This record gives sequence, structure tokens and C-alpha cells, in this order.
Amino acid sequence: MIEELEKIPNSFVMRDGLDFKFYASGSWKKSSSGKTIVIKNPYNDKIVGAVQACTIEEADKVITMANESIECWEEKTQRERADILMKAANLIKEWANPLGYIMMKEIGKPIKSAVSEIIRTSELFEATAEAGLQQEGEAIYGDAFKGFSKDKMSITYRVPLGVILCIGPFNYPFNLTGSKIAPALMAGNTVVVKPPSQGAISPLFFGLILEKAGVPPGVFNIITGKGSEIGDYLAQHPLVDMVAFTGSSETGKHLASVVGMKPLLLELGGKDAAIVLNDANLELTADAIVSGAFSYSGQRCTAVKRVLPMPGIADKLIELVKKKTLNLSIGDPEENATIGPLISSKQCDFVQGLIDDALRKGGTLLCGNKREGNIIWPTLIDNVTIEMRIAWEEPFGPILPFIRVNSAEEAIDISNKSEYGLQGMIFTENIDLAFNIAQELEVGTVQINGKSERGPDHFPFLGTKSSGLGTQGIKYSIEAMSRPKGIVLNLSEKGKLIKECKYD
Ligand code: G3H
Repeated sequence: MIEELEKIPNSFVMRDGLDFKFYASGSWKKSSSGKTIVIKNPYNDKIVGAVQACTIEEADKVITMANESIECWEEKTQRERADILMKAANLIKEWANPLGYIMMKEIGKPIKSAVSEIIRTSELFEATAEAGLQQEGEAIYGDAFKGFSKDKMSITYRVPLGVILCIGPFNYPFNLTGSKIAPALMAGNTVVVKPPSQGAISPLFFGLILEKAGVPPGVFNIITGKGSEIGDYLAQHPLVDMVAFTGSSETGKHLASVVGMKPLLLELGGKDAAIVLNDANLELTADAIVSGAFSYSGQRCTAVKRVLPMPGIADKLIELVKKKTLNLSIGDPEENATIGPLISSKQCDFVQGLIDDALRKGGTLLCGNKREGNIIWPTLIDNVTIEMRIAWEEPFGPILPFIRVNSAEEAIDISNKSEYGLQGMIFTENIDLAFNIAQELEVGTVQINGKSERGPDHFPFLGTKSSGLGTQGIKYSIEAMSRPKGIVLNLSEKGKLIKECKYD
């Protein structure tokens, strides 16, 4: 692995180790603050590297440069932009192993998932280039309204928004940054990325990748620093035309309250519930629940976060889920353990607080409730009631509550009472009933007989209520990151002009 890392050009890495510079206007820079943010491996607390703690003045310069670079990028043809994204996709794929390795170290994601996150991003870049080339405008006659005729015609086509600020999360630092960068660039915008502090290193490589792929200086920039110091400044900057953010609902709501009249694309938290009916295929259901709840130790907005089983299958399902949960590997992400460290000890304390609250209020512990360092053993709690915090709060950790219900109506009611509305799941053989329940769930997407998940990445991905704003997914993101521009033709004296057009 390390040999592969060495293939990455040295200019990117500062001489005194893995201290990374930030990327602006086509060059790598050290912050004038002289300060760095040290990133430690959440598994063993060893230092992985450090990124620059940029200042507000640097943030201002980066945004100004991105704004000044709009023209040179907008002038490129769709084909040129698509070709650049395709080249970037190839580079991403080429570097999947070293990039995955760095990500595994900085966020404690199992190595296999980290590498597949990089490969997924490469595919996303390709698909975005392809979708961008399919973009179409439209022409509309005015005669659908009384008093108007075909002499009035609106012609619309899409134009970029300008500078897009992309703020990615720690749990998918490469993919959920890439899923903003690719559509933003394809739509003709320039980009400023602000990565999360924990998880800042792997997205920095976009600077190198996009430069090599042919993105001109200033069009793509990535600035690191503490969200608390430069986050609001970046989001509120008058030259930022849109903010695309993935992270907690709390931060999303804060951003919405400070940005003013800027378009926002927000992917926030979830409390996805799996409703399991009496006729469900329990093996399939248990597999989906365990993988949905515990991949990357539950640190996914789309993780299965509640199970609502019907009385006829509850005992059997819970037994199966427990059996499969007890088989999960726990430990070192480098050894590909499914359950690894949570991102911080603060997060572990929060998850432990949810477990303690549920057990204090009468929940039945089935397994887990053990902690070593930042690892929390996968924890199943039965007989969870709506009085317990775990029925409503998003843990972002390996804890799964079972809330036993007696009817589809009760399940729908508990699902919908959540402040979140990301995804829902229904497990049953009765597709008619599943469809009926799906129509009642107040979420962005309902999965029938499958775990909640965002992909494949051309599907629309959105949340209602506190789960988000706007729709992502390849073509949806391109649309969100551009706007229609209308030009209205007002023709006059059409018939007369034709008659008069004679050359004899
Ligand atoms: O954490 C939020 C992500 O959008 C979840 O993506 O369903 O592919 O794990 P995923």
C-alpha cells in the first residue's frame, strides 16, 4: 500500500511528513495562520497527518478567485467539460487503493468499503459526464393562455449558478464531496470545497486529480480549516452562489439560517425505520437489517435506525438479527472489520448515552453495550418504547432498537412521527400492501424488501423534514446546480413578413 502512495507526486505532500497544503488557484499553499489541524486515526489515535487551518482572509481570496474563473470554465463546451470529468474518473480509479488507504486511516472506514467508495466516485464522475451531455432546453409556445398566440415563444436552456461551495461529511469524505464537485463542474460552475476536519485529507486529492484531468487554475479549489472559524464566512460570502452540504441536521439548519437568499442542497440526518410485516421473508429481511444498520458501524445517514416488527414474526426476526449481529467482525478497519471505531470519543459518549437511557427506561439488551476505545460493540435493544430517546434520535453508531408494533397503521404512525424523513423500508411478500404503506410514509424514498441506501447514484436522493432540502442524484444534482435561462421571442407580423419576402 505504502509503495502505491509513493507514486503520488511529492509536490502534494509537504516535506515534513503528511502535512497537507490547501489547493487554490491551481497551486498548493500553506496557510498564513501558521496553524494546522492534526488528524488522528480514530482506531488507534495515531497521527495520520495535518491540514492547514486557513483564515478568513484566505477563504475570501479563494472565493474571489473562483468567481473570477467562472468565465474561463463556462466558455468550455459541454464536450470539453465531460472529457475532463472522464479523465478525472480514470485517475480516481487508478488511485483507488492509495486513496482508500488514506481514507481508512483518517476516518476508520473498513479498507474494502473505503476503496469501493473511491471506485463508486469514479463511476459517479463518468455518469455525471454522460448525463451532462444529455442536458436539454425547451421551447414553449405562448398559446396555452388566452390572449397569447404562437407569435410568443419561450426558449429556455440551463446556465451555471456561479461559485458553488461544497461541504462534505466525515463519513463519505471522498464520495459525498465528489458527488457535489462533478455535477457542479459539469453544469459549468466553479467550485470551492470545504472538507470536514476529520476526513479532510482524502478529498484534498481532488485538487491533484482535477488539475491533471485539465481543470484550469481557479475553477476548482479546496480550502481546509475549522468549520467554526471559516464555515459561516464561506457560506455567507456574497460571491458564493450556492451551498451544497452533507452533514448533521443541526448544522444544515444552521446553514439555512445564515446563508440568506442562496440556493441550498442539504443532505442531513435520518431515522430510517424498517417495517416488517408478518409475511416477510425473514432471512432476507434480517440480512438487510444487519447490513443496513451496521455497515461502517452505523455511521451513515441512511443506516437502518429502527425496526418495527409485527407480532407474528417479531421473536423470530429478532432472534435471526441477533444471530447475524453476533457474527459481525469487530476491530481494525485495516483488517476490514465491519464494526470499527466511531469517529470520536465524543460520538461514543453520545451513543452510550442513548443505550443507557433505553436500558434505564426498561429496554431489553440483546447484545453489545460494550466499549473499548472508540469501538462500541453492535448493540440490539428490544422492547423499545416511544418514551426512549433511541426511538427518535439518530445515533450515528452501532445501535439498533426494536419497537414492536401491532398494526401497519401503528408502524406508519411511529415512522411518520420522526422529525426526520429520509428513507423508509417495508418487508413483505404483499406488494400491494407494501405500495399502500409506502404511499403513507413521509420520507424521500421507500425501499420495498431492501435496506435503506442512497445508491445507485443516478436515483433521486432526498429527505423530507429535517432530513434535507433539494434532490441529489446525477441528473438531479446537475439540475440543482444550474438554472433555466429563458429568452422570449415576440414575433410580429409573421404572415406579412413572409409575403413581403420576395426577391424578383
Ligand atoms: O451518510 C449518508 C450517505 O448519503 C449514505 O449513503 O446509503 O450510500 O451509505 P449510502
